[in-house]
Amino acid sequence: MNAMSVQDFAIAIMAAGKGTRLKSKRPKVLHEVGGKPLLAHVIRSAAEVVPAQNIYVIIGHEAESVRAAVAHTGVNFVLQAEQRGTGHAVQSARKELSRSANFLVLSGDAPLIRPETIRRIRDFHIAQEAAMTILTARPADPTGYGRVLREGSTDRVAAIIEQKSLRPEQSNLGEINSGFYAFNSKPLFSNIDRLQTDNPHGEYYLTDMAALLVAEGQKVMAIRAEDPDEVLGGNTIAELVSLDANMRMRKARALMSQGVTIFRPETCVIDDEVSVAPDTKIDPFVQLLGNTSIGENCRVRSYSVISNSQIGNDVHIRYGCIIDDSSIATGAIVGPYSHVRPGSEIGEGAHVGNFVETKKTRLGKGSKANHLSYLGDAEIGAGVNIGAGTITCNYDGVHKHKTVIEDGAFVGSDSTLVAPLKVGQGAYVGAASCITADVPADSLAIGRGVQVVKEGWAKRKREERRKAKEIG
Ligand code: UD1
Ligand code: CA
Repeated sequence: MNAMSVQDFAIAIMAAGKGTRLKSKRPKVLHEVGGKPLLAHVIRSAAEVVPAQNIYVIIGHEAESVRAAVAHTGVNFVLQAEQRGTGHAVQSARKELSRSANFLVLSGDAPLIRPETIRRIRDFHIAQEAAMTILTARPADPTGYGRVLREGSTDRVAAIIEQKSLRPEQSNLGEINSGFYAFNSKPLFSNIDRLQTDNPHGEYYLTDMAALLVAEGQKVMAIRAEDPDEVLGGNTIAELVSLDANMRMRKARALMSQGVTIFRPETCVIDDEVSVAPDTKIDPFVQLLGNTSIGENCRVRSYSVISNSQIGNDVHIRYGCIIDDSSIATGAIVGPYSHVRPGSEIGEGAHVGNFVETKKTRLGKGSKANHLSYLGDAEIGAGVNIGAGTITCNYDGVHKHKTVIEDGAFVGSDSTLVAPLKVGQGAYVGAASCITADVPADSLAIGRGVQVVKEGWAKRKREERRKAKEIG
C-alpha cells in the first residue's frame, strides 16, 4: 500500500437513525456511555486515524441537536433528510464520499471501536484491493445482529443476512456483521442504486451490498475483530448500560496500567476524560466525572463523587464528599462528608472537614474549616482557623456579598459573619458572635449577648415543681 492510498481515505459515521428500540425522546447517538455521547466516542476513535475534515457524520433524526453536540470536533455533516436505512444513509453522502477512492463506514451507536481496529480494517481492505471489507466478530450472543455468510472457509463473504431474514438452517451462524465496513467507492456507488427494500423493515440495507457486489464479481472480504466486545452496539437501554460498564472497566484498566490502584473497579464510575496520576489509590464506590484530574499519591475514599475538578498531589478525600467544578491543592484533606461546590479553591495543606459546605470560596494555605460550616463567596487567607458551625451570611435575598478573612485570623465556633465583611489579619472573633461590621487586624470582636447568671434559680424551680405535684 502506498502513502497516497492511505491519505486518500474518508470515514463516514452513520448517525441519522432514531433509535426506536430505546423508547427515548433523545436520539440514540446522543445517549451517553462512559460520560459521553455514543457518537462522540466513535468520532474520537475515527479522528485518531484520519483528520477531522475527512470525517462525514450522517445526521437526520434530530439533526440539529446531534450536530450541536459534536460540532466542536471539526467533522463534516451530511444530512439524510429521511431515514430509509443504512444503505440510504451512505447513498445520501455519495457526493462527499465518492471524492475518496476508498472510505470507511462506522456506526454511530457502537462506541467501543478502537483506532487500532479502524486502521486494521483500512489497511487490510487496501492490501486486498477489495470492493467491500466487513469487520466481523463472534460474540457470545449473536442475537439481533446481521450474520455473515462466508464462501466456505475462506475470508471471502457471500452475503450478510439480517436477523429477521435468517432461514432456520442459518440460525446457527455465529459470525456477526459489526456494522463497520471499508468500501472502494467506484464499485459501491455504481451499484448502490440497485438496493431494494424487499425486507421486513422496508429499508435500504447497506448490508445487501455484500451479495450485490459478489454477484458483480467483486471482492467482498471479512476481517475478524480481535476483541468481540469492541463491536457491540447500543440499541436498547440494557445494551447501553452494558456498554457503559464495559467502557468504564476499560478506563479503570487503563488507569491501573498507568500505576493507579482502583479497589473493586467494578463499583467505580470513571468517565472517559478523567486523568489520575500514579500512586493514587481509589476506594470502592467512587465516581470521578467530567474532566476531573487527580494528582499523584492521593487517596479517594468510598462514596465520594468528584466532577470537573482539579485535585493536586498528596490530597486525601475522605469518605462521602461531593466536589464540583473546584480545585484542591497539594496536601489538602477534605471530608468526611464535605460538599465543595463550584468555584471553590482549597489551598495547599488546607482542611475542609465534616459537614462543611463551600461555594465560590478560596481557603488559603494551611487554613482549616473542620466542622459544620457554610463558607460561601469567601476569600479566606492562609493559616486561618474557622471554628465549628461558622456561617458566612452571603445572601441578603437579592445580592450575594463577599466575606474576606485575612491571614492568621481565628474565627470562634458558631459565629455568623454577615457579609459584606472583612476580618483583618490576625484578628479574633469570639465564639458565638454575630459579626456585622469589619474587624480590624489583630483585634478581638465579640458580638453576642452578655451572659447573665441567676444563682440558685434551677434549684428553686425544681422545688416549686415538686410542691405543685404534691398538692395536685
Ligand atoms: C446494523 C446492520 C447489522 C449489524 C448491526 C451492527 C443493517 C441493515 N444492519 O443493524 O447487520 O449487525 O448494525 O451493529 O445495516 N442509520 C442512519 N440512517 C438510517 C438508518 C440507520 O444513519 O436510515 C444509522 C443509525 O443511527 C445507527 C447505524 O446507522 O447509528 C446502524 O443502524 P441501526 O438501525 O442501529 O442498525 P442495526 O439494526 O443495529
Ligand atoms: Ca445498531
